[in-house]
Amino acid sequence: MDTSSKHDHLIANESDVTPYVLKAMEDTTDPRLRQIMAAMVRHLHAFFIEVRPTEQEYEAGLQFLNDIGKATNAAHNEAVLFCDVIGLSTLVDLINNDGMQGETMSALLGPFYRGSAPDCAPGESMARNDTVGEPLLMSGRVLDTAGQPIAGARLDVWQADPKGLYENQDPDQPDYNLRAVYTTDGAGRYHLHTIRPAGYPVPTHTSPTGPLLAAQNRSPMRPAHIHFIVSAPAHKTLITQIFVDTKAAMLDDVVFGAKEQIAVALQTSELPLPGFPAVEPPFMTCQYDFVLKPGTPNFPLPPISGKAA
Ligand code: BEZ
Ligand code: FE
Repeated sequence: MDTSSKHDHLIANESDVTPYVLKAMEDTTDPRLRQIMAAMVRHLHAFFIEVRPTEQEYEAGLQFLNDIGKATNAAHNEAVLFCDVIGLSTLVDLINNDGMQGETMSALLGPFYRGSAPDCAPGESMARNDTVGEPLLMSGRVLDTAGQPIAGARLDVWQADPKGLYENQDPDQPDYNLRAVYTTDGAGRYHLHTIRPAGYPVPTHTSPTGPLLAAQNRSPMRPAHIHFIVSAPAHKTLITQIFVDTKAAMLDDVVFGAKEQIAVALQTSELPLPGFPAVEPPFMTCQYDFVLKPGTPNFPLPPISGKAA
């Protein structure tokens, strides 16, 4: 036997495998990679020892992973969708964003952020055609945790249309429909002009996530919401969603993203609204102030880049 090996015996039974693999990986140079891979091997091996998969089940599991890759393209990200419906995205979100400094609670990014949305002037509509829907005027301020307004903060906004489709899912919508970047004025105020979002089902036509939800007898519905990435120099970038739906719809959010602190009630207004001189009443309104905590801005990688080829 080669005496330079770190192993002094060959694997003989099930309980030899985990320590043997951990030893094989122990010279990993990057300490964080070493920690992550060791924990992954310990937990995954323990999971398999608990579940005791048959060989056919193991093959099906590998096929499941391959299908995630095959279903992913420029307009669809199955890995994000799968991690969202098993609660992993919300768990990672809360591990990194606990709201304890008074900052706005965050919510998962989801699979439909594209990046590079066009700038909109205050009050300008982010509907890029005459998308039918109830006008919604949302306004408020971006503040720091001391309550001071942040001028020049950017609000990257996206939402589904009233049919429940994002523009990248729908050939009938113009490019970048219902996607925009608004910038706060000198007093930290923003004026967002959109249409009222509807709740919608997450995509269920792609495998493996669609068949998994069906097998679990789960509703694919998300409560109505608008996505935001709010950013400013020297502040941690806030990824969140503002919910405009019933408590019942939020309780059953298929991706576990809804939270009390980021739910708002809509009002109907019959009067013109300052900040939106070009919009005729009646319309829906809501007010929301976003609070950013100190930190380093860090934008997420867009899960998609556009429409399917
Ligand atoms: C979304 O809110 O856009 C979303 C989140 C998770 C899965 C699917 C869609
Ligand atoms: Fe969404």
